[in-house]
Amino acid sequence: MKTLLTGGAGFIGSHLADRLLAEGHCVACVDDLSLGRRENIAHNLGNPRFKFIKADAADARALEAVFKRSRFDCVFHLAANSDIRAGGDCPDIDFNRTFLTTYRVLEAMRKYGVKKLVFASTSAVYGEGGKAFGEDSGPLSPVSLYGAGKLACEAWINAFCANFGMQSWIIRFPNVVGPRATHGALFDFTNRLRENPRKLLILGNGRQKKPYLHVRDLVDGILFVFKRAKARINVYNAAGEGVTTVDEIARAAVSAAGLKNVIFSYTGGSRGWKGDVPRFRYDITKITRLGWKASMSSVAAVRAAARELCEGTCGK
Ligand SMILES: NC(=O)c1ccc[n+]([C@@H]2O[C@H](COP(=O)([O-])OP(=O)(O)OC[C@H]3O[C@@H](n4cnc5c(N)ncnc54)[C@H](O)[C@@H]3O)[C@@H](O)[C@H]2O)c1
Repeated sequence: MKTLLTGGAGFIGSHLADRLLAEGHCVACVDDLSLGRRENIAHNLGNPRFKFIKADAADARALEAVFKRSRFDCVFHLAANSDIRAGGDCPDIDFNRTFLTTYRVLEAMRKYGVKKLVFASTSAVYGEGGKAFGEDSGPLSPVSLYGAGKLACEAWINAFCANFGMQSWIIRFPNVVGPRATHGALFDFTNRLRENPRKLLILGNGRQKKPYLHVRDLVDGILFVFKRAKARINVYNAAGEGVTTVDEIARAAVSAAGLKNVIFSYTGGSRGWKGDVPRFRYDITKITRLGWKASMSSVAAVRAAARELCEGTCGK
């Protein structure tokens, strides 16, 4: 396949690029490097099947120039704001980076006759509640602007598929961990412990509890769903078994760093920040029935990623 991968210099996008290249596909990677890093893709720059284009996916002219040059079989759209807290302070961020990039991608696909879209959605579209959220849950009530932006994207993708004969695979990711992470609790803890190995500040009360998935499992799940699910619009939760508390993540970061007697302090409150969903559970029946299973549970994924981040495997 000739693929276009937006956000391909980011954490998840760079792992997806590696996997697509390993499977023999061509990858045109569009990223404005606002949150991603050139070193995440440096190892692929010499590959004739890989091309990096530094461009803003919300810029219609820049994006359409990319579509004009190649006829893509499929678009993997991962470019978005991944800093949920920043989006809470400035709504423009998620409007432009999360929603508008998606609209521009859809419009370019329509104009250039590209029919297949794989979209990086999120558990944040569900909002909060005690139950395990399945793909048919509703009404959906996101609490972050990021979640709202992603839900708006899903709606536009649905309508583009219905009106213009496109096919989509909307994968709702949980919290993702692994090498090359650019954000998230584990990433923050690992960095804070490097700065101060005696004390660790934890946002909230440490009891926030969510599913975590290792990036290698996620990439595997995305491609599994893409290859197996045949509906016009395919919406899937992707996650492994179980959930992990923020305290457990902190302990995994401390243990991976080989530290002892680290004092944890808390900012307090049940929520890490405005827009944070403190407790969340996925129903993964649909993806399980399709035949996919993550190789690691949530806790095992966090522990493995903690070790990898400490070993400095970023970029590998
Ligand atoms: N990491 C997670 O836990 C998680 C969870 C759910 C969903 N997701 C989604 O997965 C995707 C990848 O996230 P990630 O964790 O790798 O984050 P990331 O920030 O590492 O990657 C996003 C990439 O998009 C790029 N980007 C942002 N705006 C752009 C624009 N206007 N034009 C071009 N490039 C732009 C950034 O530079 C970055 O490289 C995102 O869509 C994110 O919303 C991530």
